[in-house]
Amino acid sequence: MAQRVTIRDIARMAGVSIATVSRVLNQKPDVDPATRERILALMATIRYQPAHAAVVLASGAKHTPAVLPAFPSDFLWGVATSALQIEGALHEDGRGPSIWDAFVAHPPPDFAPHTAVVACDHYHRMPADVALLAQLGVNAYRFSVAWPRIMPDGAGAINPKGFDFYDRLVDQLLAAGIAPLVTLYHWDLPLALQQRYGGWLDRRTAYAFAEYAEHVARRLGDRVAWWMTVNEPWSIAVHSYVKGKHPPLQCDNAQALQAAHHLLLAHGLAVPRIRQHSQPGAAIGISLNLSPVYPADQREATLQAARNADLWHNRWLLDPLFHGAYPAEMQQAGTMPGVIELGDMPTIAAPLDFVGISYYSRLVVRPAPGNLTGPLTGYEQVIPVPEASYSQMGWEIFAEGLSDILLRLHREYHPPALLVTENGVAFDDAALPAGDQIRDRRRIDFLREHIVAMQTARQLGVPVRGYCAWTFMDNFEWVDGYQQQFGLVAVNRTTQQRTIKESGRWYTHFIATQREQSDAEADGS
Ligand code: FCB
Repeated sequence: MAQRVTIRDIARMAGVSIATVSRVLNQKPDVDPATRERILALMATIRYQPAHAAVVLASGAKHTPAVLPAFPSDFLWGVATSALQIEGALHEDGRGPSIWDAFVAHPPPDFAPHTAVVACDHYHRMPADVALLAQLGVNAYRFSVAWPRIMPDGAGAINPKGFDFYDRLVDQLLAAGIAPLVTLYHWDLPLALQQRYGGWLDRRTAYAFAEYAEHVARRLGDRVAWWMTVNEPWSIAVHSYVKGKHPPLQCDNAQALQAAHHLLLAHGLAVPRIRQHSQPGAAIGISLNLSPVYPADQREATLQAARNADLWHNRWLLDPLFHGAYPAEMQQAGTMPGVIELGDMPTIAAPLDFVGISYYSRLVVRPAPGNLTGPLTGYEQVIPVPEASYSQMGWEIFAEGLSDILLRLHREYHPPALLVTENGVAFDDAALPAGDQIRDRRRIDFLREHIVAMQTARQLGVPVRGYCAWTFMDNFEWVDGYQQQFGLVAVNRTTQQRTIKESGRWYTHFIATQREQSDAEADGS
């Protein structure tokens, strides 16, 4: 097969530097017109198809400039997973039960009877899965460590076999040139802590978390440079304590406020302990699911509803993390956590190296009757938004929301760096025409448009250092079991065979062309 012509070849043929070719492709004005014409004519003659990321990105993307510059060569391009969603092997090698094991073993009547006992069988297939990650071409992999594998009883005794698994995973990732991005808590609370203390309603769970975090940092800290304490404390507080959809299935605002406080406390207690035991320069952060909020119209009542929604979706957690205080509106409305001990707020505001943002959708809101009485009050979400597109989860697809929320976080809270820790979409891939290939074109559009939105934010000065697509492979999507597929790789539920979807191949190609372009820009500068 003929070798593809690269911009290096064009530069050689045109007798100019690679940087000049790159500038022409990026429509930069600083190339003299005659040289520009010459390069474009040469490209036309040899029918050069520019394969660089800018063009991949630009095709089909909405609301964006036609061409974007490359991301820097050290940008992290990854995929994300979490332990419970992929590992399986729940009863093996000394792992203790988590609150999710108990929940899926005996699901309440309204829940699908899916089990995570096998999930993607990643615990047994880890080396092959790392090889698959390498095949995808990612240079980062975000995964979570299962607390019940490390400390089966939640605190105290360590399970060496649990550690061995993550030790091997980290080593194999590094050998494949993939940076491990470690989340310490992605919802699989050891059941013992739920039974002993009532889980996140009790601050002793936060102390136990800090102890666990320190153990993991001591063990993996020589090799892991990126740490996330808690994954989406908002989701935990809201799904487990407001909506009653995740274990322990509570619907109680006071509990939600207290659980969120203890999750923040757990984070704040863990940060210095991780820092102390990990390699110099390691980046320590938290992963938050933030939602940009848009008023449905410009009436004052609607603007107030938007402020209320923003309070409960963003500021509730961002203000304590960055300002060491809950928003004044929570004080005024009497919706503060019941117990805040002296010293909690400065602990929670421990300096962070980065914030991870998981972005899936936005909120369009209108006024709702009633006052602020707790999380998710004081507004109503507009669903459906006229003309909008929705994913299989029923989440509106709105790529510009990613640039908006990145910019807002940067301008108002100034974290030193940001990572997009999750971004992805569920579509019903099974409904695609049958064939050897899974042609999930809409997922490609989704990824492309969101990457463009992220790049737009970067161009406006937001220090985004990496992007992780959710998710590596179709997996156990919590209460939705295996019905919602977000993966770039499909998993046959009977044979566990992995098949890279077209979106996965697109991502591979995109990352490769990014590298080509950033290398070229570096060579030519
Ligand atoms: C996020 C979770 C992740 C996955 C995606 C779809 O909120 O962190 O585990 O469920 O949503």
